[in-house]
Amino acid sequence: MIDFHSHFLPKVDDGAKNLDESLEMLRISKKSGVDTIVSTSHCYAFSGNRDIQNFLERRKSAYSQVLNAIESDAESYPDIVLGCEVHLVPNLSTFPNLPQLCIENTNYILLEMPSSDWKDEDFEEIYQITKIGLMPVIAHIDRYFDMEDKFADLFSLNLLFQANAESFLSRDSRRKLYGLIKNDALHLIGSDMHNTDSRPPNLAKAYAVIENKFGKIYTDYLSFASQRVMNNELVPTPRLPKLGLIKKLTL
Ligand SMILES: [Fe+2]
Repeated sequence: MIDFHSHFLPKVDDGAKNLDESLEMLRISKKSGVDTIVSTSHCYAFSGNRDIQNFLERRKSAYSQVLNAIESDAESYPDIVLGCEVHLVPNLSTFPNLPQLCIENTNYILLEMPSSDWKDEDFEEIYQITKIGLMPVIAHIDRYFDMEDKFADLFSLNLLFQANAESFLSRDSRRKLYGLIKNDALHLIGSDMHNTDSRPPNLAKAYAVIENKFGKIYTDYLSFASQRVMNNELVPTPRLPKLGLIKKLTL
C-alpha cells in the first residue's frame, strides 16, 4: 500500500511532536502493510515565496533527522517520498518556488482547500496552477461534503481527489465517499496521520473496508493510481463496472 497523505516529519507542523513519535508512526505503518509513504507536511504560504522557502528548509532538516535515524536502525521502515500539503492561498500560482512543493520528481501538488466558503477566486487560482503545468490533487475531499454544491466547479477542473482513511471507518461518512467512488471521482487514499493515538496510521483498515465493498479491483486501482502519480504519469479514471458486476468479478 501507498499512504498518500501523512504528517510524520517531526516538528514541521501539527504532526509528529518529536523524532521518536515520527519513527513509531513509520514502524506502525510498515507493519500494517504500507510500503511507501508520501510525506505531506502542511505549508501555508500566506506571505508568498518567503514562507515556501522557510518551509522547505524546515522540511529538509526534519527529513534528514528521520533518514539518519532509519539508516542506523535494524527495524524495517516504509520508503519515503517527499511532498507537502499546500494550503490554497491567493496568488499561490504566481510564487516562483511553488513547483518545489510538488511531490518529489513530479508535477503533482497536494492542495488543501479553504475550510469553508469556496469562492470563484479559489477555482480561478487552481486553474492558474494547472496553467503553469502543475497537476493538483485535492486533499481529503471527504472534509468538504458541506460544500457539495460547489463540487461541480471543482470537478470541472479535471483534478485528482484524495480521501482520508478515517472517513471510511464510520458508517455515516463512508456513504458519501461511496458515492464519489461510484462516480469515478476518487483516486487516492491517505491516512493523514498526525500521531500514534488520535490521528494514527490507519490506511490498512480503510483498505479492508473498501475492498469488502468494491472488491480488489478497486483497491488495486488505488495502488495503481498512487504509483502513477509518483511516476509523474497521468492517472486514468477508475471507470468501475457497475457494482453488481464488480461483486461478480471479485468474489
Ligand atoms: Fe493533512
